[in-house]
Amino acid sequence: MNTQVLINTASALVADDKGLLAMDESTPTCNKRFAALGIPQTEVARRAYREMIVTTPKLGECISGAILYDETIRQKTKEGTSFLNVLIDSNIIPGIKVDMGAKELAGHPGEKITEGLDGLRERLAEYHEMGARFAKWRAVIAIGEGIPTQCCLEGNAHTLARYAALCQEAGLVPIVEPEVLMEGTHTLDRCLEVTQEVLRIVFIQLGCQRVLLEGMILKPAMVLPGSGCPTQASVDEVADATVDCLLQAVPATVPGIAFLSGGQSAQLASARLNAMNLRFKSRAPWALAFSFARAVQQPALELWLGDAANVKAAQQALLHRARCNTAARRGEYTAAMEDG
Ligand code: 13P
Repeated sequence: MNTQVLINTASALVADDKGLLAMDESTPTCNKRFAALGIPQTEVARRAYREMIVTTPKLGECISGAILYDETIRQKTKEGTSFLNVLIDSNIIPGIKVDMGAKELAGHPGEKITEGLDGLRERLAEYHEMGARFAKWRAVIAIGEGIPTQCCLEGNAHTLARYAALCQEAGLVPIVEPEVLMEGTHTLDRCLEVTQEVLRIVFIQLGCQRVLLEGMILKPAMVLPGSGCPTQASVDEVADATVDCLLQAVPATVPGIAFLSGGQSAQLASARLNAMNLRFKSRAPWALAFSFARAVQQPALELWLGDAANVKAAQQALLHRARCNTAARRGEYTAAMEDG
């Protein structure tokens, strides 16, 4: 394991106020997003959509790394250039989603465990050979009556840590994503309590598996009240709860925390990231960055609609969101950026 390469990649992923673009929706998830907008759910349409994204001019000014899916990492532009090379030429580090999805956890109704460790060493070697330099694995934790259980937290943390160790062995920086879901009626305080417990167990397991903390990125959800909670929180309350929680649980040696958006609106995700950086950037030991999928891509997808005539407008919308989030990393995002 070349630790310096891992450290360099991890710090490059959060350098210069840039962030990650999670364009790694699995085929079923991508099809679901297409179906909602009447876009054909075909390989041809998915390739055209991802070409629109990776060829967005100036994307590399705001995006440090792009997370691809197995289908996408093998695809090319109409002219025949691999998406991997398009990204590398734009100064964007290619990454790859390597989990095989969250499945029902046996004996634990309402809870899931992420699969994909079998054969992972061989798959990581292939992706590294292709040019990927980091990877992603998502675990999901639901909050509800009697959940999450200790069994679910320990199972997912153990799996995330084994994935992370295998990534580092293969020369890939692991993005460690324990997503506490927003769905539910739980309060902000309950989300904070669960997130803190999740992170505490995840870092115990990362230690057990001898994962190099300087060579990984954490990808958590922001600490939010459930989407069905009658009491919602202000932007500053979310920023405070999120950073308070992370300060209790995330070692200072981790170079960066790159949030997922989790179904928040694009503008709220930017505003909350901005508030965190405005209030805590000078004191936080790690970079507070982004690794959004929906909060960067959804406005562009809604303009693109599968029509080549809309590519330019969609690319402008994508770049706009990327710029808003880079501004949020500097604490310089304002609602006025959304005008016009
Ligand atoms: P969202 O930003 O849409 O939550 O997706 C992030 C992600 O990569 C989930 O694994």
